[in-house]
Amino acid sequence: MFDNVLLEFEGRIGILTINRPKALNALNRATLKDIGAALDHIESEKAADVLIITGAGPKSFVAGADIAEMKDMDQEQARAFAWAGQNLFKRLQSTSMPVIAAVNGFALGGGCELAMACDVILASEKARFGQPEVNLGIIPGFGGTQRMARLIGPQWAKYLCMSGEMIGAEEALRIGLVARIYPPDELMEAAKKLASTIAGKGLIAVGLVKQAVNEGLDVPLAQGLEIEVDKFVEGFGTEDRKEGMTAFLEKRAPKFQGR
Ligand code: CAA
Repeated sequence: MFDNVLLEFEGRIGILTINRPKALNALNRATLKDIGAALDHIESEKAADVLIITGAGPKSFVAGADIAEMKDMDQEQARAFAWAGQNLFKRLQSTSMPVIAAVNGFALGGGCELAMACDVILASEKARFGQPEVNLGIIPGFGGTQRMARLIGPQWAKYLCMSGEMIGAEEALRIGLVARIYPPDELMEAAKKLASTIAGKGLIAVGLVKQAVNEGLDVPLAQGLEIEVDKFVEGFGTEDRKEGMTAFLEKRAPKFQGR
């Protein structure tokens, strides 16, 4: 269906695999387009409730933007390339579907940025994270300086983006860059299990959590708290909340319908 990504479904869980293992799944323009087209497909067909993004092969999630393609870019082309990545990653944030990054190996540069644009990052114990752009004489361009500072704070963001140092999964866990780590052969099962857990909740409520956290990160606390109240009230207008509260009081499992 796509040249550079694989899109599979297990029930209502979508699995998007970046599939250029010979280049360690580096993101060239065509791959960015394919990821966008895969998202178009999932959204237009309403094909999944939760999406998992991972990388093909045992070695790499995504080793960054494609350096071979960037080498001859002029500044205008670089601007267009950065916007292509940024607009794509913004879509991952704005889709109501929760997105889980299953980081199976190198997540460097644009790869770390892709993971950080997802809602939750799970990683293999072999995963390696970093923003090595300074080694190339550039800075991150797909949101790294901004999302990393928001996710793990400016101290670690500057440390990683200025030094270009790669860190392992344990350290990524310690500094809050990833939520959980697993042995390599257990990562995908863990990602699917988390996706199923989330898919079993009231999906409107899950989408409201995503919106509240993401929108709140862009504004002062007082405004973020207002956003939370609005989303809280929105949740009260759903069938799911009636079912959730009734099921609790009747001591049974809720059957959420996503409406
Ligand atoms: N772009 C293009 N090709 C890449 C690539 C990348 N980001 N990363 C790896 N590859 C290619 C290599 O060129 C190599 O290709 P050939 O077999 O044709 O020579 C193949 O993938 C395997 O890579 P290595 O032989 O280098 O594998 P290794 O195990 O020795 O090293 C690595 C692995 C440490 C990840 C190393 O490949 C590496 O440092 N890659 C570049 C990482 C990087 O700098 N990423 C940031 C890119 S800039 C960016 O992302 C900007 C942005 O924010 C938008």
